[in-house]
Amino acid sequence: MNLGLRNRRALVMGGTKGLGRSIADALAEEGAVLTISGRDQGRLDEAAAALAALGASGASGIVADVASGEAMDRLADAAVAAMGGVDILVLNHGGPPQCIASEMTEADLVKWFQHIVVSPIRIANRLLPAMRERGWGRIIVVGSTGMQQPIPNLALSNTLRASIWAWLKTLSAEVAPDGVTMNVLAPGTILTDRTRDSAAALARRKNISQEEALAERLAEAAKQIPAGRVGMPEEYGPMGAFLASDRAGYITGSMIRVDGGRIRGMV
Ligand SMILES: NC(=O)c1ccc[n+]([C@@H]2O[C@H](COP(=O)([O-])OP(=O)(O)OC[C@H]3O[C@@H](n4cnc5c(N)ncnc54)[C@H](OP(=O)(O)O)[C@@H]3O)[C@@H](O)[C@H]2O)c1
Repeated sequence: MNLGLRNRRALVMGGTKGLGRSIADALAEEGAVLTISGRDQGRLDEAAAALAALGASGASGIVADVASGEAMDRLADAAVAAMGGVDILVLNHGGPPQCIASEMTEADLVKWFQHIVVSPIRIANRLLPAMRERGWGRIIVVGSTGMQQPIPNLALSNTLRASIWAWLKTLSAEVAPDGVTMNVLAPGTILTDRTRDSAAALARRKNISQEEALAERLAEAAKQIPAGRVGMPEEYGPMGAFLASDRAGYITGSMIRVDGGRIRGMV
């Protein structure tokens, strides 16, 4: 299937590693032009070189911390300057810390509202008018299955992602007549540094090695997953490339799960 992505211009936020990188990799393999963002120029340059080697028609990295709204404006403008425009925008960032709902603090809520809701909306608003004028655009939110079934111990994520989902669902209807699609790509448990870092916390708590803690965490997660295992990043990114493609032009306002069957409800 030709996805028609050659020379399409994509900005993938949080594109140095993990899920954002898996989408960037898949887009690179299809010959897209890429700008990725993250917090460190060295990591960005390394990832951009790898994307070029995979087949990207161009790849560069721009430092932009989602903690800052102004950084989102600068990122949008720099990506347009680097690529001549942005056709595909992947909204992604590092995940919030674990916490239970009864212990969620106001300070954490405000801080992570900026990362998960305000900054993504700000950069989308800056790039959307040109997509609508051109009559073609794709916005993909890296979400979570917690948007359909709250995940215990991830109260901040559950609470705030509900907001970005409501925004996307509302706006997708407004921009659909202009050829712009907006979808959530919701991962179950995918093995990334975020998963490994959560094992580090478990290792400290139980006084076991990080390898033991990771094995325990993966085995525990696998029990909840019909596929019997956690997913790998390369099983997630290709669906992002498909959603970004011409072929997915009639898919909008949707949440697509990549979760090995974890969500059992008929949603
Ligand atoms: N992995 C899973 O199983 C899973 C499941 C559900 C939801 N999610 C969500 O999916 C998102 C991505 O997760 P992941 O597993 O890919 O995490 P990851 O491997 O830790 O990657 C996070 C990416 O975001 C960048 N980043 C982190 N903090 C940033 C900030 N303040 N400003 C700009 N960029 C930042 C990182 O780049 P630098 O470090 O280079 O800045 C990196 O490229 C998170 O929101 C996570 O909660 C993940």
